[in-house]
Amino acid sequence: MNKIDIIVGIQWGDEGKGKIVDNLAQKYDMVCRAAGGHNAGHTIWVDGVRYALHLIPSGILNPKAINLIGNGVVLSPKAIIEEMEQFENLKGRLFISDKAHLNLSYHSLIDKAKEKLKGDKAIGTTGKGIGPCYADKISRIGCRVGELKEPEKLTEKIFEALKFHKGTFELLGIELPNKDDVLSELCEYKNKLEDFIADTTQMLWKAQDEGKKILIEGAQGTMLDIDHGTYPYVTSSNTVTAGSCVGLGLSPKSIGDTVGIVKAYCTRVGNGAFPSEDFGSDGDKMAEVGHEFGTTTGRKRRCGWFDAVSVKYASRLNGCDSFALMKLDVLDGFEKLKICVAYEFDGKKIDYVPQDLEQVKPVYEELDGWDKCEGVRRYEDLPQNAKAYIKRIEELTQTRVSLISTSPEREDTIRR
Ligand code: GDP
Ligand code: IMO
Ligand code: MG
Repeated sequence: MNKIDIIVGIQWGDEGKGKIVDNLAQKYDMVCRAAGGHNAGHTIWVDGVRYALHLIPSGILNPKAINLIGNGVVLSPKAIIEEMEQFENLKGRLFISDKAHLNLSYHSLIDKAKEKLKGDKAIGTTGKGIGPCYADKISRIGCRVGELKEPEKLTEKIFEALKFHKGTFELLGIELPNKDDVLSELCEYKNKLEDFIADTTQMLWKAQDEGKKILIEGAQGTMLDIDHGTYPYVTSSNTVTAGSCVGLGLSPKSIGDTVGIVKAYCTRVGNGAFPSEDFGSDGDKMAEVGHEFGTTTGRKRRCGWFDAVSVKYASRLNGCDSFALMKLDVLDGFEKLKICVAYEFDGKKIDYVPQDLEQVKPVYEELDGWDKCEGVRRYEDLPQNAKAYIKRIEELTQTRVSLISTSPEREDTIRR
């Protein structure tokens, strides 16, 4: 049985997963998404053209690869239909699990209204209905993509489920949708998506048995994992490797090479703990040079130094064989660089991630910067100090760096 490789986000998302999946996809027959929804925003640059993907796997730019959206994904039919419009000939190249949950407009209305009500305690969600949709799934009142085949029956089921939300809707000031509008929307979704709905687990197993090369594209990042991240400032899915097995119908024994995607510094969008955040000119410089604005919401990302403590934790949680170190070029021209090597917690120095990361202070080590590594494609050509920075990251995180990215372009990637 062929092992399945995986790309997983190591920090708070936006590490550059899209670029690496696209780069590697040239060697894979199948690329799969296993969790999250259109809260994800994966950017790919090929020959100066930018593609922003939210639900469609980043293997789509490889004409040979089949792309699967697994059962663990919460699928907004509206969002995927819009996203599909930028590509031609998707039939036979894109498949959506009949068990993926439907993320409908009212999920997003609940998401946004709850955030508003939370005021300064808001999570800073993407407002895409992710939490409310997963909540329906877990409460066993959710609807699945396969049910789009019978829109009348599905409409009745949705209105049954809405009864449970009546109180929430009233509290949040959301109006109940009109039944005829819902039915006509679902009929449109059925027409546009029917040909893409499949039993993706069976497809995966068949491909695996035939010895096809399969890659899983993680979404979000480990520190946003519902169990292992900075709860409650997290997303509503298991973003770690193990979550991908569940989200696709794979046994843990199927997982092969696991590559953690990690930025050479650190960013976070939305609220929650970020021990190594830099509020000064260094953080501003990272944001400006790294174009740190969200692919999905356009929000400015918070920036800070590489946090080796949380990265080491994430590497262990995911079983990373190696890392792809992204955006090294963004650190070009810094005279000094800092790495968070430990936390100060409760008067003590610790080297692990405690339950409440809000309470820790970063302990930094300083390294010398370098002039330029933008666009470098061979390890030998990297400045000495950049090599020393990479070596220190490997030591602190106990994980080998196998790929280094030096620009957004597909080919500006060093293999070691
Ligand atoms: P993802 O969600 O993990 O796929 O990452 P995003 O696409 O949300 O954010 C990563 C951003 O960094 C995108 O705009 C990429 O084009 C860009 N990017 C990726 N790798 C590099 C790199 O090595 N250098 C620079 N400067 N930009 C990069
Ligand atoms: P990719 O796949 C960065 C963050 C949101 C918010 C929290 C909860 O592009 O790396 P949600 O809408 O999921 O309920 O929001 O999670 N978040 C992301 N941050 N990259 C992402 O995806 C994210 N997906 C969700 O900003 O803090
Ligand atoms: Mg992103």
